[in-house]
Amino acid sequence: MNKIFKSALVVMMVAALVLSAGCGGGTPEPAPSDERESYLVGTEPTFPPFQMTDEGTGEIIGFDIDLINAIAENQGFDVEIQSLGFDGLIPALQSGQIDIIASGMTITEARALEVQFSDPYINAGLALAVLEENTEIESVDDLEGKIVGVQIGTTGAILADELLDEGKIDGVRTFNTIDVVMMEMVNGGVDAVINDLPVTIAYINQQPGMIKIVGETLTSESYGFAVRQEDSELAAKINAGLAELIESGFYEELIAEYF
Ligand code: ARG
Repeated sequence: MNKIFKSALVVMMVAALVLSAGCGGGTPEPAPSDERESYLVGTEPTFPPFQMTDEGTGEIIGFDIDLINAIAENQGFDVEIQSLGFDGLIPALQSGQIDIIASGMTITEARALEVQFSDPYINAGLALAVLEENTEIESVDDLEGKIVGVQIGTTGAILADELLDEGKIDGVRTFNTIDVVMMEMVNGGVDAVINDLPVTIAYINQQPGMIKIVGETLTSESYGFAVRQEDSELAAKINAGLAELIESGFYEELIAEYF
């Protein structure tokens, strides 16, 4: 990817955070390890560089995973990562199967009725992608009669449904994981994909020359960690840890490592 575009992207992603990272919480008392709380963190790991599976070890890694681990360490609790379908994350949180969602989840008003979000930890908008060789689709305005691929339960899926309702596209095909959405486009099963820009860029980098991004970024979104509505104490710890990691420079190092 073009360097200027990449730096502009990182600046956009981080700008809002630095603005919102006002005052941090106090340093917590380190708890003895046998008294430490342990929380289950749910994530859908086909979403690089935020969460993906390390092909060598099979372990779930990524920006969100490093960040929630560092927050946990900073705040004196333990976390264990669990893989789930993206559309199953909020139900799993509500039913107590997991305690925290760390999955590149956009803070939306509708979701905030169901879960409690942390402060935003990064910005990332949706983008339209097509096959590299496609010369017909240059923006969302060229999607008439076209089929759009999305991941189930995502903001990309919501936007695609809106375009469908408005008659601007011909159909939406929904898949469980974003790797399959990308594969479907390569195989000709969908004409375009709506997905979070940094994630589509990560897929392009994995397999250069297959897919390209077209048109303007479609939305401006912020990701937050989510906890149950009643878990205000946990939300406060996550926010305090995040603020301290921004303050300490760890957050910036993590951005430099992943983007
Ligand atoms: N940011 C989008 C949303 O919240 C997509 C997130 C998908 N995350 C994932 N791990 N697959 O709807």
